[in-house]
Amino acid sequence: MNRVTDDPSNDFFFEAYDRENIAYGLQPSPELAAYLKQTAALRSPSAARPKALDLGAGAGRDTLALAAAGYDVTSVDVSERGLDRIRERAEQANLSERIRTVVRDVRELDIEPASYSAVIATTVLDHIPASDAPAVWKKMCDALTTHGMLYTQVHTTEDPGSDQSPGRESDQPISETADAVINYFRPNQLVGWACHTDSRLRVLRYEERLEWDTTHGAPHQHGKAVLLAVHQGFHPDWFGQPAAFPRSDNS
Ligand SMILES: C[S@@+](CC[C@H](N)C(=O)[O-])C[C@H]1O[C@@H](n2cnc3c(N)ncnc32)[C@H](O)[C@@H]1O
Repeated sequence: MNRVTDDPSNDFFFEAYDRENIAYGLQPSPELAAYLKQTAALRSPSAARPKALDLGAGAGRDTLALAAAGYDVTSVDVSERGLDRIRERAEQANLSERIRTVVRDVRELDIEPASYSAVIATTVLDHIPASDAPAVWKKMCDALTTHGMLYTQVHTTEDPGSDQSPGRESDQPISETADAVINYFRPNQLVGWACHTDSRLRVLRYEERLEWDTTHGAPHQHGKAVLLAVHQGFHPDWFGQPAAFPRSDNS
């Protein structure tokens, strides 16, 4: 694969999304899935559908989960092949009318402030230069409604693909798409952004971890920072992921 460049027409992920076994699979991010499940009761079937924005949506595993949970989703990516696969999967799941795909570099996207109930960025802030990521983050935070949720994942310097310690000293296998990650986040960096007063967020969950990825290529390890937050002042029912002290009918 070619290294990602500033040219959005360079579809680094074409082959990964063109495969029969589409890269990253169909399972949504577990923290996002738990949030959607636990807050399902907030979404009245008679009310207008809430809006979600999936940045760097790829082949749509999070987009599809949001649409199935009742959101109208705008899925943004530079990979036309990824967005093709989203439309294909949406049609198969009978969710096409809830999903709009937009081929765009997230840095170039205009996002209307206070207009989305969910903003998702599962490993895209780390695919753009470090100097550009704060501006995209600001747009993401500003996009949230007062009852909005923000979910973000980034690769960290713990990742074996990182050129910084401790990842670079790791002898664990590296992802086939590691060249696309150009901005590995430092310890506490993402949560630092989330806790900044300008972000106007309340953190529900933050974790830095190592994980194994078997959804594409040879099994490999990742260093990840995972953040789930809501707009400050918003207090949806949330019992953790996995739910720490669930009722037996709310696991
Ligand atoms: C590792 S994949 C993750 C895909 C998806 N979020 C998931 O978790 O399955 C990263 C995605 O970010 C997209 N991407 C990278 N840089 C981007 C940019 N500047 N604007 C929009 N999308 C971008 C890539 O095309 C790719 O689909």
